[in-house]
Amino acid sequence: MAHHHHHEGHHHHEQTHVEHKDYVTSNKEHFDAQATSVADNPIWVELARRCAQNMLDVYPFNEESTIVMDFACNVGLLSRALAPHAKSIVGVDISQKSVDVYNDTVSKQGLNPDEMRAVCVELKGEAGELDDLKFDVVACASSYHHFASIDDITRMLAFFLKPGGVLLVTDFTRTEAQKASAGSSALIDEKYSHLVPHTNGMTEEGLRKAFDGAGLTSFEFKHLSTLTLHGAEGTLFLAKGVKPSI
Ligand SMILES: C[S@@+](CC[C@H](N)C(=O)[O-])C[C@H]1O[C@@H](n2cnc3c(N)ncnc32)[C@H](O)[C@@H]1O
Repeated sequence: MAHHHHHEGHHHHEQTHVEHKDYVTSNKEHFDAQATSVADNPIWVELARRCAQNMLDVYPFNEESTIVMDFACNVGLLSRALAPHAKSIVGVDISQKSVDVYNDTVSKQGLNPDEMRAVCVELKGEAGELDDLKFDVVACASSYHHFASIDDITRMLAFFLKPGGVLLVTDFTRTEAQKASAGSSALIDEKYSHLVPHTNGMTEEGLRKAFDGAGLTSFEFKHLSTLTLHGAEGTLFLAKGVKPSI
């Protein structure tokens, strides 16, 4: 990831060059700053509940046995909705403040960290990470549009699945009709483009390519319901893929 630092007293002709933070750094800053208020925002609470319900509809979660990773867990709104249906949940996020709120909430509810905990880490998909835990379900809600490379993230997440485990991704897209009526305006306002590489939402083809590239099989994609984001109309979708059994 190219990240150039300009030093004081360093004279160059290309001073008009604008320095952009990478997406991970911008996301950390943004989500750290809003960590203490997210859980009080009924829009985000309701969205996470809808995402969780749709995940519960497509996978037979079992509270006795299902081990879940909630990737890009933020303060844990999705985790909270999935928790009654899982044996344990590990939340992962790059925003330390969000992870702190997640873990504070867990401890206030009197839950054991073995059942539900979050860790702040930028996962690579390598041996030794997350104590070498492997998951029945990796869930990721409302976050794919924040990732610079969905191919890399999907490959990384597939690493953490058990054979036969499933990746469940919910995020935003637009139908052809929604695209037509929106004209040239993006689904996610361009003012968020420093946080969101995919301001027009994800596409089914893009998701399918990422899941295929990660070696996941039985790809399924479905539109769930209409959603209004900062005034723009989009559609919530769910993508599902299975890690082949060996
Ligand atoms: C919209 S929030 C997620 C909401 C949450 N999944 C829910 O359903 O309540 C997006 C999250 O993605 C996280 N994020 C962005 N880029 C990331 C990355 N590369 N790795 C892990 N988390 C990331 C942000 O810190 C933020 O907490």
